[in-house]
Amino acid sequence: MSVSLRFSALCLFLVYMLFLSVNGVSSMEEENELQSLIDNSTMADRRNEDIAIEKNDKAVEENPERVASMVDMSIRNSTERRKLGFLSCGTGNPIDDCWRCDRNWQRHRKRLADCAIGFGRNAIGGRDGRFKTIDARGVNVHIANGGCITIQYITNVIIHGLHIHDCKPTGNAMVRSSPSHYGWRTMADGDGISIFGSSHIWIDHNSLSNCADGLVDAIMGSTAITVSNNYFTHHNEVMLLGHSDTYDRDKIMQVTIAYNHFGEGLVQRMPRCRHGQGNRYLAPVNPNAKEVTHRVMTAGRWRHWNWRSEGDLMLNGAFFVPSGKGAGASYARASSLSAKPSSVVASLTSGSGALVCRRGREC
Ligand SMILES: *[C@@H]1O[C@H](CO)[C@@H](O)[C@H](O)[C@H]1NC(C)=O
Ligand SMILES: *[C@@H]1O[C@H](CO)[C@@H](O)[C@H](O)[C@H]1NC(C)=O
Repeated sequence: MSVSLRFSALCLFLVYMLFLSVNGVSSMEEENELQSLIDNSTMADRRNEDIAIEKNDKAVEENPERVASMVDMSIRNSTERRKLGFLSCGTGNPIDDCWRCDRNWQRHRKRLADCAIGFGRNAIGGRDGRFKTIDARGVNVHIANGGCITIQYITNVIIHGLHIHDCKPTGNAMVRSSPSHYGWRTMADGDGISIFGSSHIWIDHNSLSNCADGLVDAIMGSTAITVSNNYFTHHNEVMLLGHSDTYDRDKIMQVTIAYNHFGEGLVQRMPRCRHGQGNRYLAPVNPNAKEVTHRVMTAGRWRHWNWRSEGDLMLNGAFFVPSGKGAGASYARASSLSAKPSSVVASLTSGSGALVCRRGREC
């Protein structure tokens, strides 16, 4: 265990981001809100929570480096296969190449579960008749104008192909959690997808925009998560990984973020996390929003944080302030994935978001 804790909050990024700007926001309010969420759960819920927490602990990779090199290898394999023309429609994106060349994808829906890479790769969703997959391929599904999606104290969920937008704070409300149980679920704070105390989660090919809170937030000790091929637009606080510095259980969080498009009209938190890597930054017009990964409310403590930028493309006055030793041992591990050059970002993420798939055709 000591090993995995040392790599605490290793958010493994294989991100091809279009950063627009980064600003600061207070987190005190969020902390109070969260405490009241926890205080409000019932006894039955607490038992389920304990079970979930145990499962989340088990989902932690003792050797995150191994996962990183697997991701690296599957990308290299996919790129190689593409060069050889091995697949008629190979894109070099290993997740997509796993299923999108199959004209009969609609008859083989469950095969999707075998296509994830990174920390969320073991999410089986509904493949074996347990757990859940929401699969919108071939149809046009919008989850909007209400509470949207909360994944709370559960495991093995795949969410694919949804349009999620205009999510609003809702609740308290009675929510059914199984055929035999329902209970009060506290306020949903208006996230597009909230991953709360959950593990083995894969969020793929969704289009998310304009919600009251985060587009994708992973908090409360969630882990074993992959967020891939999503299209994010028009939103303030895009993605939160780990709720607060003081919530220790978030140290088990391991997340892979790959092939997402961070697009037009985004403001900050792309994502908010301790270790990260992105490589293309386009600053907005606002002269106060040019700093990439701006540090907030930390009273100078950030000077010891090991942050660096290397070979990144800074556009329209975007700038980055390095700090700490720059290349400490833990950073070397976190950055073991080779980043693709920023020039290929557009083509890498061109297929992101919800897809339009037709039966009997390659998707
Ligand atoms: C990549 O290809 C090699 C050689 O064909 C194979 O042994 C390996 O399992 C593949 N790895 C992944 C992650 O696809
Ligand atoms: C918790 O429950 C109290 C009393 O039922 C309610 O007033 C409050 O809004 C709830 N908090 C949340 C975050 O749902």
